[in-house]
Order: sequence, then C-alpha cells, then structure tokens
Amino acid sequence: MRRIGVVTAGGDAPGMNAAIRAIVRSAIHNGLEVIGFERGYAGLINDEFRLMGPRAVSGIINLGGTILRTIRCEEMKTPEGLEKASETLKRHRIDGLIAIGGDGTFRGASELYKVSGVPVIGVPATIDNDVAGTDTTIGFDTAVNTALFAIDRIRDTATSHERIFVVEVMGRRRGFLALEVGLAEGAEIILVPEIKFRIEDVCRKLKKAKSEGKTSEIIVMAEGAGDSRAIVSKISKETGYEVRLTVLGHIQRGGSPTARSRILACEFGSKAVDLLLEGAKKRMVGIKGKRIVSVDLDYSWKEQKELDMRLYRLAEILSA
Ligand code: F6P
Repeated sequence: MRRIGVVTAGGDAPGMNAAIRAIVRSAIHNGLEVIGFERGYAGLINDEFRLMGPRAVSGIINLGGTILRTIRCEEMKTPEGLEKASETLKRHRIDGLIAIGGDGTFRGASELYKVSGVPVIGVPATIDNDVAGTDTTIGFDTAVNTALFAIDRIRDTATSHERIFVVEVMGRRRGFLALEVGLAEGAEIILVPEIKFRIEDVCRKLKKAKSEGKTSEIIVMAEGAGDSRAIVSKISKETGYEVRLTVLGHIQRGGSPTARSRILACEFGSKAVDLLLEGAKKRMVGIKGKRIVSVDLDYSWKEQKELDMRLYRLAEILSA
C-alpha cells in the first residue's frame, strides 16, 4: 500500500471535512500518499483530483460542507461511468479508496470495487443516519442540534400565539432525524415514515391535549412521512386551531460540526486507513455502542436499519 484516494459523495454532512483531515493525516503518519478526488464520483470519472499533504487539511476540522465538494453522480450508476472511474484509479496507481458518504455512495463504491479490484472503505457521513451497520453517522448529531436550535425559537412563537406548529425535518425516506429531534425538543407528536398514522388520530390527540390545558404544540414530522402542507391544512380544518408549517430544509445540512460529529469523524477516518493497511477489501467503518467496528460494505445499503421504538415510546410518554 503506497497511495490511497479519498472522495466525498452524495449529500454533504457536517464533519466530512474532519473525516478528510483524519484520513489524510493518518495516512501520512503511516507513510502513505493521498489523492483527493473532487466533486464526488464525477472527480473519479473526469479525473479531477488534488494531491493532499498535511497542510491541505489545515483549519478544516470545524468547517461544514466538504472541501473536496460533492455531487449526486448519475453517471457512476452506468457501466461506462464505472469503467472511467476504474481507469482513473489505475492511472493514479491508487491502492485503496476511502469513500465518505451515505448508502448511495457505498453502493457506488461496491460496484467500483467489482470493476476495478481496488479495495474500498466506506466512511458513513449523512445527516439521515440511515446506514445499516453503524449506530450513528458523521453529521447526524450536528443536524439534530441544528434542528433543535431552530425549533426552540419556533416554540417561542407557538407559545406566545397559542399555535400548533408542524416542523418538517429532513431524513429522506427514514425517521431517524425526526425521532431524535422530536424527543430532544419535547415535541407533542412525532410523525415518521416507519410508523403508520391517521390524521384523525393526530387531531384527536391535539384536541385532548387542549382540553387538558395545553395551549400550543410542536409536531415534528419527517419529510418522508407524507405531504406536510396537506397535513397542516387537514389539521387546521379538522380542529379549527391556528396551525403553521416550517420546513427546515437544507439548514440542517450545513454549519460547523458538533464535538460528537468531529470526534466520530476522527475515529472513522483513522479506522478506515487502518483497514486498508490491514488488507481489507470492501468494508465500512461504524460505531456500535462505544466500539469502532467495521462491516461488509454491502451490508450498509442492503440491510434496513431499525428505528429505535423504545425512543419513540419514550417520546410519547414524556409528551403527555
Ligand atoms: O441525504 C441527505 C439529504 O439532505 C436528505 O435528508 C434529503 O432528502 C436529501 O438529502 C436532499 O437532497 P438534495 O440536497 O440533493 O436536494
């Protein structure tokens, strides 16, 4: 092992830069050279790269986004795209590639391994936390805290105006972000795609809460749980209450990573380099409890990660 590549792909997540830094510095510590591929898998396909010495990653541990930039690359899903990416790896004599991103990134990395034979290691970084094989992903903790920062402010208005607010958070097709945000915010209702709900039941709960003295309520809703505009209009029609919608959107993807996201990035980045040095071919790093672990890369996108129902029930009990 002499030279490795690093790429960030898919949606950006806070802590990706801390992961790049950890990979570059761990690799150099072990006598390896590092090439960074730019703009996600497009950089591999179009041969856009930069050599990364220790100073290339100075002052980035606290920065959101990714200095290597990223795109969602459709061409990487085609045989031609994979072939071009494989040729780029060969041209640069890359002995191992570390891909930072989510399940789509790992699917691409796995296909690339099949075509090129170059070992690939996945580093999970997505605000959605929807990657199997790891309790949490780089950026998730930051996104939870960013959403809380915003909703704490929304609650002031909800309380003052005695309103109901539906706050839509990201998460793609999963409810991990909504669940943790909802529990930590003390939301009265949490709507996630994994748990079926009926608007009539939501309205009944809101009316009951009002009859018991609640004057304002926060509903945290995952973007994958349904059409938030339609839900708001149904609730306001059915209850007659003043209901407002806030869609947090991309605010959750940016910003300086929290300590937890940075530390995870340091640990994951260093473990990814170790795995390549140990001769691993196709793995993803992860965390289980307090242990840094690794799983087969395909497990990360083929398996469904379970939502923590214990947390959901706890949120219900505590919102009484
Ligand atoms: O995967 C991260 C994420 O922010 C999801 O939560 C969201 O559904 C999606 O990306 C949005 O993607 P884009 O920024 O490409 O519109």
